[in-house]
Amino acid sequence: MTSQQATGQRQLFIGGRWQDAASGKTFPTINPATEEVIARIAEGDAADIDLAVQAARRAFESKSWAGMSQRDRGKLIWRIGDLIMKHADELAQLETADNGKPIFESRQIDIPMAADCFQYYAGWATKIEGETIPVPGEYLNYTLREPVGVVGAITPWNFPLLLVSWKLAPALTCGNTVVLKPAEETPLTALRLAEICREAGLPEGVFNVVTGFGETAGAALVRHPGVDKIAFTGSTAVGKEIMKSAAATLKKVSLELGGKSPNIVFADSDLEAAAKGAINGIFYGKGEVCAAGSRLFVEASAHDALLEKVVERTKRIAPGDPMNPKTRLGALVSKTQLEKVIGYIESGKSEGAVPAVEGGRADLGNGKGYFVKPSVFDRVDPRMRIAQEEIFGPVLATLSFESVEELIEKANGTIYGLAAAVWTRDIGKAYRIARSLKAGTVWINTYNVLDTASPFGGYKMSGFGRELGKHALELYTQVKSVWVDLR
Ligand code: NAI
Ligand code: MG
Repeated sequence: MTSQQATGQRQLFIGGRWQDAASGKTFPTINPATEEVIARIAEGDAADIDLAVQAARRAFESKSWAGMSQRDRGKLIWRIGDLIMKHADELAQLETADNGKPIFESRQIDIPMAADCFQYYAGWATKIEGETIPVPGEYLNYTLREPVGVVGAITPWNFPLLLVSWKLAPALTCGNTVVLKPAEETPLTALRLAEICREAGLPEGVFNVVTGFGETAGAALVRHPGVDKIAFTGSTAVGKEIMKSAAATLKKVSLELGGKSPNIVFADSDLEAAAKGAINGIFYGKGEVCAAGSRLFVEASAHDALLEKVVERTKRIAPGDPMNPKTRLGALVSKTQLEKVIGYIESGKSEGAVPAVEGGRADLGNGKGYFVKPSVFDRVDPRMRIAQEEIFGPVLATLSFESVEELIEKANGTIYGLAAAVWTRDIGKAYRIARSLKAGTVWINTYNVLDTASPFGGYKMSGFGRELGKHALELYTQVKSVWVDLR
């Protein structure tokens, strides 16, 4: 336990030191399963963002990081991954307490994937190269792939540590310094990560964490002229605001936004596997997942058979204490999110969708916690709000289709394009549909498979820029062309 954790107060991490917000203000972070305050968090604002950006700028210009040999940088980033795994139990507990996700998910998926992200990018540190380009005349032309400078990262609450890692690991590997503004709902693991990075030997100022609210601290980071790039994951509405505000200083921007992903089941598929995939696609992570398969499209001839399986499986899922290792559906992250999800369940009913499994608020017996029962709607019309808008909760909308043409039009018929899945035994059909879907990820006969090595990001209003894999290196580097006269 560090002094930070012992006190129940969490400070900002700026220039390698813990400090209070300039205003002295704090805000509570709440355990959504118990509604208890876990800790009070420093409420950073524009003044703190400015200090953090200055610290990151000094660290960048001093070359303490960008000038370190690639091998040493890689080793240090690898060590961050090792330390995450060394503290995996503690990090998983923090994540589950702060977010409400089942401890099974935190401990088995989020934390190991975060560690893997650092270790994957550690390997890239020695492999970021320029090119020599054949040009006419007596010239040598070569390129250098250089860091962009100070990166502002703004992250959401649904995969708190993991989504910080998706930004921090590649940004560090490329030699950048970072100011992070984590989600106000779930700041605890990001702050613990700052300690871990210090323990790993990351030079001061290379990674800074300013906790606080989006409209104040987040917006100040986007406006700050000392920031070269913003990497954002969150809502499409805030993504738009960020682009507008970043225009004033022409920052580079990458955005990973919401989704309304179609999960498409053909009658010729393995219906048992497809039903399992539908359940995993929408109820994993409480449905608070940007890639959630929230629209289940079923070929009309298989509709009844598939829906029966989905209903039967859904009825077996009940929300439980997130700290219980057997729990598979935890508490929604906040009261706001609970109200939003309940609002969509009401809207589905009032717009005429048929509740095949009735969702709604759940209670574990003590009247506490933001729990909801999983819900499945049938006979959803593509124009309904539950078929168009991102709900970000355990609510599935079932639609049916007769022809492939009709399917493609409906599946692509939202503003989003993050992910999609197709279930069929006809490999040719799967291939053609994968080509026709406007989505950054397409799964065939599976759902929610991700790996650090494979790119992830959106088409259309799900954003742009690809995180993960070698593609993320593009987000955190810029190319310099150097000409040498050889005469
Ligand atoms: P949000 O987009 O408001 O929050 C995400 C992050 O952006 C947080 O760190 C927040 O403090 C920051 N932020 C908010 N306003 C900002 C501003 N003006 N300038 C800079 N930073 C700002 O998302 P919120 O309100 O937590 O959730 C609302 C909905 O957004 C969810 O119900 C869900 O539909 C969607 N969402 C999608 C996510 C995804 O993974 N793509 C993640 C989180 C939310
Ligand atoms: Mg918000």
